[in-house]
Amino acid sequence: MEQSKIEDLLRQMTLEEKIGQLTQITGDFYSDKAEERTGPMSQLGLNEDQIMNIGTVLGVVGAAECKRIQGQYMDRNRLHIPTMFMGDVIHGYETIFPIPLGLASSWDTGAFKEMAQVSAEEASVSGLSAVFSPMVDLVRDPRWGRVMESTGEDPFLNGKLASALVKGYQGEPGDLQDHFNKVAACVKHFAAYGAVTGGRDYNTVDMSEQRLRDVYLRGYRAAIEAGARLVMTSFNTVGGIPATGNRHLMQDILRDEFGFDGVLISDFGAVKELISHGVAADETQAADLSIHAGVDIEMMTLCYMHTLEALVESGAVDERLIDASVLRILQLKNELGLFEHPFRGADEEREKEVVFSEEHRAVARRVTAESLVLLRNNDSILPLKESQSVALLGPAAQSPDVLGAWSWRGRTDRAVTLMQGLREHALACDASIASKVRTTEERCDYFIPTESVVAESVELAKRSDVVVLALGELSTMSGEASSRSNIRLPKGQVALFNAVHQVNPHIVVVLFNGRPLDLHDIEAADAILEAWYPGTEGGSAIADVLYGSVNPSGKVTMSFPESAGQIPIYYDEDNTGRPYEQAPNEKYVSKYLDVSNYAAYPFGFGLSYSRFTYGSLESSGNGFSTEHPVTISVNITNDSDVDGVEIAQLYVRDLVGEVVRPVKQLKGFQRVALAAGETTRVDFELEENDVRYVHLDDSMHSDPGDFLVWVGGNSRDLSEPIRLHLE
Ligand code: GLC
Repeated sequence: MEQSKIEDLLRQMTLEEKIGQLTQITGDFYSDKAEERTGPMSQLGLNEDQIMNIGTVLGVVGAAECKRIQGQYMDRNRLHIPTMFMGDVIHGYETIFPIPLGLASSWDTGAFKEMAQVSAEEASVSGLSAVFSPMVDLVRDPRWGRVMESTGEDPFLNGKLASALVKGYQGEPGDLQDHFNKVAACVKHFAAYGAVTGGRDYNTVDMSEQRLRDVYLRGYRAAIEAGARLVMTSFNTVGGIPATGNRHLMQDILRDEFGFDGVLISDFGAVKELISHGVAADETQAADLSIHAGVDIEMMTLCYMHTLEALVESGAVDERLIDASVLRILQLKNELGLFEHPFRGADEEREKEVVFSEEHRAVARRVTAESLVLLRNNDSILPLKESQSVALLGPAAQSPDVLGAWSWRGRTDRAVTLMQGLREHALACDASIASKVRTTEERCDYFIPTESVVAESVELAKRSDVVVLALGELSTMSGEASSRSNIRLPKGQVALFNAVHQVNPHIVVVLFNGRPLDLHDIEAADAILEAWYPGTEGGSAIADVLYGSVNPSGKVTMSFPESAGQIPIYYDEDNTGRPYEQAPNEKYVSKYLDVSNYAAYPFGFGLSYSRFTYGSLESSGNGFSTEHPVTISVNITNDSDVDGVEIAQLYVRDLVGEVVRPVKQLKGFQRVALAAGETTRVDFELEENDVRYVHLDDSMHSDPGDFLVWVGGNSRDLSEPIRLHLE
């Protein structure tokens, strides 16, 4: 529909109809069963007419259901404005991919784009027009439960992966209108939600504006520059003001500086929560703050519906503010083609073919294998040999809890467990092998394994060549409102590990978890494979790696602490005035008395069945400038007899800045496939804009001066640096 018609439609709307568009409610209000509707409606004090004026719907899926609601809505809405269905498709719709913290370990932007494309295919055919993804919150605190939704601690990688997701969901500009297998992306949670104090969800976020801009906002900006059509506000405060009512954050930064012209939606109830935060005395003030901050849609509370009309009549809110918000919502619906095609991609027949298709599950299996991180492999106990007898033990051995806390439409009953994956592998090789993989009759509890299951496990371990011990967290131990102060494995699992280790020291631990853990308690393991929550094809992908069909290439994108006492711990820290490294034997330097300064497994770390060695760095010159980037080259050799993929990483340090600069920052990465024995030359291009940073006057620019540059396989084990000068 032409813009002029959209503006004409806006002119026909009453103030009440406009305010209705600024609200989002869940689908139960539209249930075709009166008894399901009346509860929620009376709870929120809504009547049928109001329901048919509310602009968007949260959390309804199914082509038939969305078409039913849309048909009813279009009939009942006076101006026949279509509604719009949005939902939380975070890492897959029904074909569930690894949690984002897991898939990020692949460092594969292509995999992120594919995940988003598959998700958009399945979500759109099921009636959704927008998904509340990518979650771009940068996280340096594994106590925070939502770390599982993030891509970890690095701003550069975070931005690249977020951009890939947006492109996968939305396609190129204009695709949303012409390709109904695409969906609008919603960047969340703006902003800096991952920096909650103490890692406790919904808690205060407090940092300098320079650090906010230079570290935490980069990912959101990258996703917006990739074209994201929605942004969601975060629950937390920023600079003492809750994001949802924060005009500086939303108008000055998001709208004016980032140039975001899409729809800003609050998080669930976040407008009314301004009252709990203590910046609004009542719904009127909460609505006033939010509409002036530019929040276009209030999710699941009714401050706007209850008070905006009076605020306009009193002159406290200019109706043009409301018009601007309504126009953005109508424009989004128009971009999606909803006026001409209110059912858009919803199609009951295609839904049966597309959702959870074999093709989608094959994509998931392939990228899931890339997300697995080999943290330890003493004496090359891995890969397993099919001839070995395997005792598969532990609470996650047969558990379908492999989808993570935010899989929404994912079905654990259709997920491949580790047991099924190993059995499937064995059958594919030789049916007789299947009998070599044995597990306990009794299921093992995540917290208190029974004496009988421990005894049975010990017996099995005694009689097996190797133990695969599947440990970790229940998916409910991470995700929203699931912060942990203690990030170790449950005591019962440690006891099981120790009991088994007594009779068979050849233990391969496979971890299912939503956050970096303190793994001290399983120090004696021969091997540790980090599987995160691997998704629908998890068990198959893990079996592929355990038996060597796939050579692991994953590398963690978040530091694994030695101890929770080190948190926040991250690789790109500032040097301080008394760096430990300069005087490690001195007392008065920055260190702990009882633990090292370093991560147990640092950012970018991951092993392979191959062995990669790096030559010395070469550069195309001693310096670089805005006009002339510099190329940094290194030879990488696969010193083994196994083909593999190495994720080579480029790190840079700005030696002198207006504000302190991190000891190193990721500025490039490449997945490099290397056949056994092969050497290849890898080039990185370093540009002046790669080293720009936010100065005290909020300007983003570089400073002339010297830089150190490294290349390596993780943020710790790096080549000798070269020194380059920026003109
Ligand atoms: C939740 C989450 C947000 C989600 C929204 C809608 O509280 O914070 O990520 O998109 O509500 O379900």
